[in-house]
Amino acid sequence: MAKPIYVLSGPNLNLLGQREPDIYGSSTLDDIHKRMAGRHEGVTLKTRQTNHEGELVDWIQESNREGAALILNAGAYTHTSVAVHDALRACDVPIIEVHLSNPAAREEFRQVNFVSPAANATIAGIGGYGYELALDAALHLIASGER
Ligand code: DQA
Repeated sequence: MAKPIYVLSGPNLNLLGQREPDIYGSSTLDDIHKRMAGRHEGVTLKTRQTNHEGELVDWIQESNREGAALILNAGAYTHTSVAVHDALRACDVPIIEVHLSNPAAREEFRQVNFVSPAANATIAGIGGYGYELALDAALHLIASGER
């Protein structure tokens, strides 16, 4: 069986749909995962969300051992976590960073990013649709053997 694509979301993304909908939209994370699952036949997704940094690091390591690619919205850990950065640097699988909002156009404290330097690509600012595009991008990188 082909390896799954990991779709990992970090802190507070369990609140999507109710959390600041003007910024993050009205879809829940479950809605987004369902749209991704319906997009490509025969692709297995492992979709998970955590509010805990260590758990996210464990799952990033697992995605590298057992997955074909990683799609990651690290939420606020994007801007704070050297541990997430180091875990990503240790990965051989393609990594697509995704954000619903565009952090580059937001507050100063979101201008630091520990994920982008370790990712193949970043998709930001187009809401939940960005997760679907991230899946297309992950499949493209898998097919072309890139990391
Ligand atoms: C986010 C952007 C981050 O700055 C923020 O902390 C989040 C969500 C996004 O998807 O737009 O929690 O990752």
